[in-house]
Formats: sequence, structure tokens, C-alpha cells
Amino acid sequence: MRAILAVVDGADRDPWCQWIVRHRHGGDDELRRELFLAFLVPQRDRLLDAAHIQEGDLVLDIGTGDGLIGFGALERAGLSGRAIFNDLSADLLGLCRDHAARAGVLDRCRFVLGSADELSEIDEASVDVVTIRSVLIYVKDKAASLRECYRVLRPGGRLALFEPINRFIVADHGRAFCGYDVSPISHLAAKLEALYDRIQDPVNDAIVDFDERDLLRLVTTAGFDEVHLELRADIEPRMDPQAWEGYLASSGSPLVPTLGEAMSQTLSDEEAALVEQHLRPLVEQGIGEHRMASALVRAVKHGEGEDATARPSAGA
Ligand SMILES: C[S@@+](CC[C@H](N)C(=O)[O-])C[C@H]1O[C@@H](n2cnc3c(N)ncnc32)[C@H](O)[C@@H]1O
Repeated sequence: MRAILAVVDGADRDPWCQWIVRHRHGGDDELRRELFLAFLVPQRDRLLDAAHIQEGDLVLDIGTGDGLIGFGALERAGLSGRAIFNDLSADLLGLCRDHAARAGVLDRCRFVLGSADELSEIDEASVDVVTIRSVLIYVKDKAASLRECYRVLRPGGRLALFEPINRFIVADHGRAFCGYDVSPISHLAAKLEALYDRIQDPVNDAIVDFDERDLLRLVTTAGFDEVHLELRADIEPRMDPQAWEGYLASSGSPLVPTLGEAMSQTLSDEEAALVEQHLRPLVEQGIGEHRMASALVRAVKHGEGEDATARPSAGA
């Protein structure tokens, strides 16, 4: 079973769906495929390894997007396994449903529309595994989301969550140009940064308001008593070269404009031309510093009713 790679025209879909199918990779299908193979597949596999999915498990994937993690989990849970796909985008859940139907696994899938911090449709102590990848960065009430993870897991159930630690990037690079040297056009870069800062507070927005220690604290406070964290940080002296048009058409999330939109909202034509003159060669030749940090947390809900011999621990 493959995760969804079908190209759909997302223009009439809700903003999260449009972002996942188009703006995340600037509408460039080649880049989408590269992103999938080089970046998303290794992250998915690391997360699913951490989840220790067993034959027959029921897995809840929170903020499933186009089902990257959920379908991978279903595959690992075998023919008797089941998956619940959650997202607050009805259109993304629709894509997952279509994919499940095409893959012949619809009878083992459930789709729950709603926010990660309020999953009352899912019964207490009803699932074996909860997975989350790159979702809490968009959720203000992360504590409530982790309480929901704890509530829906059965005793002995496992949580595997992966989140980028954006503070690591934003603190030094700002959000508009992550990693490219814009000091020669700093006055114009500042105008664009100011636009992004007005939309997403640079300190308190959900996307930057936590680091790996906060995740550990939130997971333990929710009740998990066996918790493991892996922090990974990479700094590389090159970026992947990218087409200028794709770079302009991409954004870090649907909650902020693409760089092209930000430029047209903020800069005069002359100023935009200066930005392009400086930045385009850097983007097209990959001249910039790549920074990325992420936290992988795995945890077990121990408690009454747990069969300690039947299931692997998070440390296995
Ligand atoms: C970066 S995507 C990750 C998608 C998927 N987990 C993956 O690994 O490919 C973030 C996803 O979180 C969803 N999302 C954002 N806020 C959410 C919330 N409060 N509750 C549930 N899902 C949310 C979005 O609709 C989107 O599908």
C-alpha cells in the first residue's frame, strides 16, 4: 500500500488540503516526489519504528494529512490491523478515504474530523497506538492534545510523535528566507519578515512556542510514565537547488502567504526586482545554510489492565 502520491488539483479544496497537495512544494510535482522520497519516507519509517506497531493493532494517526503515517501504520498492522485517520481538514480526510477505497482497505479505516485537542468521538482506552507527525506545531493547546492521546490509549498503548523544533531555525534565520544570506538586501528582508511576524507571533505562535524539553514535560504531565526522546539537529553548508518559481509559490504552512504573495503585498515592483536579483541565484544554485531540528518522542501508557508480557516497551 503506497501513501498518497496521486496529483490532485487542490484549487477548490480547503487551505490545509491545498497546502499539502500544492503549496508545500510550490506546485512542483518533481519536487513533491523528491520531498516524499528523501525527506518524508525516512521520517515516516523512523516514527513507525518508534511506534512498535504489532499485528492487529488499532492505530490512531492524529493530523494525518494525506495519510503518510496512517497508511504506513495500517500496512505494519497487517491484515487484521485497523487505522483511525484524524484531521481538521475534511478535504484531506476525503483524499484518505478515496485512497483507502482504491487500496481495498476501507473496511479497516475510520475517519474522524476534528482538532487534535478535542477527540471526544474516540473512546477512552480504545486504541493501541497513537502517531503524530508535524501536527502539534500547529496546535496552540499542546497539553490538551497530549491529554487526549493518553485518554484514548489503552493501558500498555504506545505514543510516537515527531515534531520539528522550529525555534532552532527561526531564532537565527527568520522565517521568510530560512538559510539564505539576505544581508545585502536586509531592509527589504525586514519588510517581509515583519509581514510574517504580524501573522505569526515570532515568540508565541504555536509553530515556535516549544522545544524538545517542552514536549517531554507535556508528555509526562499528560500521564505517560515511560518516555524516551531523540533530538536530532542538522546544519549543512548547502541547500537543495530549487526553481525560483517554485520557491516563490511555496509556504511553510497554509497559515502564512507564499513568498511570492508576501512580496506582492509588501514590496514595490522595484523592490521585488531587487529581491529577485539577489535571491534568485542563491535559490537556484542552493547557496545557503540548511538547518533542521526535530524531536522524536516515544512513550507508553502504563496502568491498570495492562498485559505487561504481551506488548513491547517503548525502549525495546
Ligand atoms: C505538516 S502536515 C502533516 C501531515 C501528516 N501528519 C504527515 O506526516 O504527512 C500537518 C497536518 O496537521 C493537520 N492539522 C493542523 N492543525 C490540526 C489540529 N488542530 N488538529 C488536527 N489536525 C490538524 C493539517 O490539516 C495537516 O494535515
